[in-house]
Amino acid sequence: MKREPIIVIKNLAKKFDNTFVVKDSNMTVPKGSIYGFLGANGAGKTTIFKILTGLLSPTSGTVEVLGFNVTKDRENVLQRIGSLIEAPVFYEHLSAAENLALHLDYMGVTGFGAETALDMVGLKVTGTKPVSKFSLGMRQRLGIARAFIHKPKILILDEPINGLDPVGIRDMRTLFLTLTQEHGMTILLSSHLLSEIEHIADMVGVIVNGTILQEISLEQIKGKSDIRLEEYFFNIMSGGNIS
Ligand SMILES: Nc1ncnc2c1ncn2[C@@H]1O[C@H](COP(=O)(O)OP(=O)(O)O)[C@@H](O)[C@H]1O
Ligand SMILES: [Mg+2]
Repeated sequence: MKREPIIVIKNLAKKFDNTFVVKDSNMTVPKGSIYGFLGANGAGKTTIFKILTGLLSPTSGTVEVLGFNVTKDRENVLQRIGSLIEAPVFYEHLSAAENLALHLDYMGVTGFGAETALDMVGLKVTGTKPVSKFSLGMRQRLGIARAFIHKPKILILDEPINGLDPVGIRDMRTLFLTLTQEHGMTILLSSHLLSEIEHIADMVGVIVNGTILQEISLEQIKGKSDIRLEEYFFNIMSGGNIS
């Protein structure tokens, strides 16, 4: 069954100082999917996520999120999405719960509530410890909690697995499944590693030098027994034959 698209990017281009870092890019994220955005360092993933969340404006092309044009209707989009892009910034002297409570205040909703969200990311034990004393992995978990605590329709997570240990990665995978299956969210996450994406995502988009070259459901390729996933994506990422 074809799922309805919830993010649609058409002919997107972004230029910095006369150089195109994103060009001819199209992306369709189906509602309810966990969409893995795969690309080498510098391929353009963060730039596209910043455009999706209104932090950067496109040089040309259209970007629709939940039917809203991101450039013209940024407020409507921001109310309905949650994001973690690059290293998250927190109030360092406050605890995880206090940081989350401030975010909920700002968004004007109760969402999951700080305690539940902290439990969901395995940070409940941090209590009153200030964020300044958190490890990289703990900060990443808190950043993820802040992205979904207000129950957005779409979660946009830029390299969310960064800094997590294998247990953390497994926990996040379970969490992402819960958020999509039980709370109806759609998740768009990026990574430069196929090994991270293949266990979490059901759809994959591959970006190479600023252009999204391929979008495919993982089920579709995994069903083809003669294809090795690693080889398949390596070929695309190295500009090889993708047929
Ligand atoms: N503000 C900026 N000014 C100039 N170049 C930038 C800026 N932001 C990103 N770039 C360049 O755009 C390209 C894509 O970067 P980025 O989107 O961060 O890639 P990724 O997230 O896939 O690693 C890189 O070559 C990067 O150096
Ligand atoms: Mg990046």
